[in-house]
Amino acid sequence: MKITVVGAGKYGSTTVQRVAQAGYADEVVMTDIVEGLPQGLALDMNQSRPLERYTTKVVGTNDYADTAGSDIVVVTAGKPRKPGMSRMDLLSDNAQIVGGVAKEIASSSPDAVVIVVSNPLDEMTALFQKVSGFPPERVMGQAGMLDTARFQDKVAERLGVSPLAVEAITLGSHGDTMVPVPSKVAVDGKPLRELLSDDEIDQLVQATRDGGAEVVALLKTGSAYYAPSSAAARMVESIAKDEGAVMPVCAWVTGQYGISDVYLGVPAKLTRGGVAEIVELDLSDEELANLREAAEAVRTKQADVDSLV
Ligand code: LAC
Repeated sequence: MKITVVGAGKYGSTTVQRVAQAGYADEVVMTDIVEGLPQGLALDMNQSRPLERYTTKVVGTNDYADTAGSDIVVVTAGKPRKPGMSRMDLLSDNAQIVGGVAKEIASSSPDAVVIVVSNPLDEMTALFQKVSGFPPERVMGQAGMLDTARFQDKVAERLGVSPLAVEAITLGSHGDTMVPVPSKVAVDGKPLRELLSDDEIDQLVQATRDGGAEVVALLKTGSAYYAPSSAAARMVESIAKDEGAVMPVCAWVTGQYGISDVYLGVPAKLTRGGVAEIVELDLSDEELANLREAAEAVRTKQADVDSLV
């Protein structure tokens, strides 16, 4: 199992570390355009192996030849947000970068399953699929796992319970039309609306939507990477191990929820081949309307995103 992570920034390098440390990959390759950066980080990570008790080797490189034949590729390349920026402000800069990566990966790892995490997420995922020409089931984006974890953590903090006691899911776009799904939130099996008022739940939903910006505002340079890399690594694991776990991911929707032909955050079963199936949850009328609204909000930008490359 060969896994490549494109981009050796905070998000990329933390993802590499998490995947390597989990131990199921034979090789993890980290590539970046900055000379010495991926090599130095790889050296440092490899020297943690005797202490952390794992053997997976990380290879740092500036050359796509070293990524050839990867089974799974995670694309983190691109600029992160600065305080006050929306993810959409990154569109034209990151389209150039992600478009270039898509061409390289299409020729060096033509059979790979690809997870895009670059922002704006829904558009960059669509762009990667178009430029690479890969079948849509082999290209997906990471957002819903992160947004769901943020929702779980916000609920846990609000109620003073373990974050592991909270079940939740977040769908829609990784932006203003994110759709946290309160009807599916349970704490120790109890529905959230038996524990909090509608207003309190609305506040948690909004805090989840703003979760990424909240971190950016505090960090001032760069965006979040600990929870984002955990989210990406969990998707990589499900694909690598052919688990068939159902996770909220940005996937190509083909009629589910009455929505077609757009990349959108939906629950999907992840296997070795990528997205094996999109799962249709029973949503409330309002949640379903919000999901359809999210689809329309991202559709136009996705349709012409390849014109930016
Ligand atoms: C976030 C960025 C990574 O939500 O999109 O933190």
